Amino acid sequence: MDADLLIVNAAQLLTCASPGGPKRGAALADLGLIEDGAVACLEGRIVAVGRTAEVLAALDDPSAAHTVDATGKVVLPGFVDPHTHLVWAGDRADEFEQRIAGATYMQIMQAGGGIMRTVRATRAASLDELVAQTLPRLDAMLAHGTTTAEVKTGYGLDLDTELKMLDAIRLLDEEHPIDLVPTFMAAHAVPTEFRGRTDAYVDLVVNEMLPAVADLRYRVETPQGEYYVRAADFCDVFCEPGVFDLDQSRRILEAAKALGMGLKIHADEFEPIGGAMLAVALGAVSADHLVRTTDEQLAALAASPTIAVSLPGTPFGLGHHEYTRARRLIELGGALALATDLNPGTCWCESMQFIIALACRYLRLTPAEAINAATINAAHALGLGQYIGSLEVGKQADLLVLEVPDYRHLGYRFGGNLVETVIKRGQVV
Ligand code: NIG
Ligand code: FE
Repeated sequence: MDADLLIVNAAQLLTCASPGGPKRGAALADLGLIEDGAVACLEGRIVAVGRTAEVLAALDDPSAAHTVDATGKVVLPGFVDPHTHLVWAGDRADEFEQRIAGATYMQIMQAGGGIMRTVRATRAASLDELVAQTLPRLDAMLAHGTTTAEVKTGYGLDLDTELKMLDAIRLLDEEHPIDLVPTFMAAHAVPTEFRGRTDAYVDLVVNEMLPAVADLRYRVETPQGEYYVRAADFCDVFCEPGVFDLDQSRRILEAAKALGMGLKIHADEFEPIGGAMLAVALGAVSADHLVRTTDEQLAALAASPTIAVSLPGTPFGLGHHEYTRARRLIELGGALALATDLNPGTCWCESMQFIIALACRYLRLTPAEAINAATINAAHALGLGQYIGSLEVGKQADLLVLEVPDYRHLGYRFGGNLVETVIKRGQVV
């Protein structure tokens, strides 16, 4: 067997292997840990995983491969961040200060600030400015170990600016090692020009924006030839009183589904109005936030294929004290994933390591559970569980070397960066 990249002697190699789908229940705690582990890669894919001696014995000429010595270190899959609002212009530092003084997120939004504030800045920015403002965030994500991320539109709220955001996502995906998965989210807020006419805005999204975006393809050129990719893989809705109610959310998601798009939903962040159940009913790939989800809806979600994505950085960022009831969901057999929710309002955090630290404390996940939720289950929250999120033969060679000898340092330590080396598609980046 040939390899062009070898990682050997890892004190702990976490495969996070889960051939049968996402990890549920007790399986969430199983990291597939191999002591003195090694991974061999060829042309960006994993070709062997096991103990160092076994992997070396399987290779025709181990000296032909670029070798990374991980003695005394942890090796694991790159983090997958399945919920971000990465692309935006400007910031909202002043709103953060207002919230400390007592204003709520929804009050600020209803007064024309919040998401709408970022919409104004994003509409005013050129494509180049938008890309330039976003790149440092993408660099920070990569440095902290994220190798694939979902990115939502939703700071345009008119067709031109939503398309500009999709263009920005595509350009960033092309020029940066992190793979980006685009989600169309014109239903992120009701723009000021539709104030009091939410149904009219829903009409616009359903009748004009969604058909335009669902049909849009970008051409990708590779040495092997050209192919076309969808401008947006998923459609997402902020299902919340005062934003889009359950019926409006259903209309948008049903229209997206009819156009062949995958579905996601912001559900139960502030009030439980049925978003989680809607996700289950429509076969959404994920339901996200789930802070206020009722027992009944948690049970329905747990029994469904829909992945529950918890975003503990958001309540933390808002200074709230209520988090996704992850232990209950796991007990019920649900599939839990973690994401940052990176955005300029509630959670400007690029680091999945910090999210793991929060999840251990406030969701009461063990470090092992949190790592699986941030890798293999997060990949499933993007429908990519067969290609990324674990160290298994045939998968993309996206992996991390941590500068620590024990995986539990993830979660235990916070505020810093334990990632020493990031490997994306078999390349040290
Ligand atoms: O997931 N809840 C809606 N959207 C984001 C916040 C976006 C913003 O405030 O800019 C969230 O928390
Ligand atoms: Fe979000």
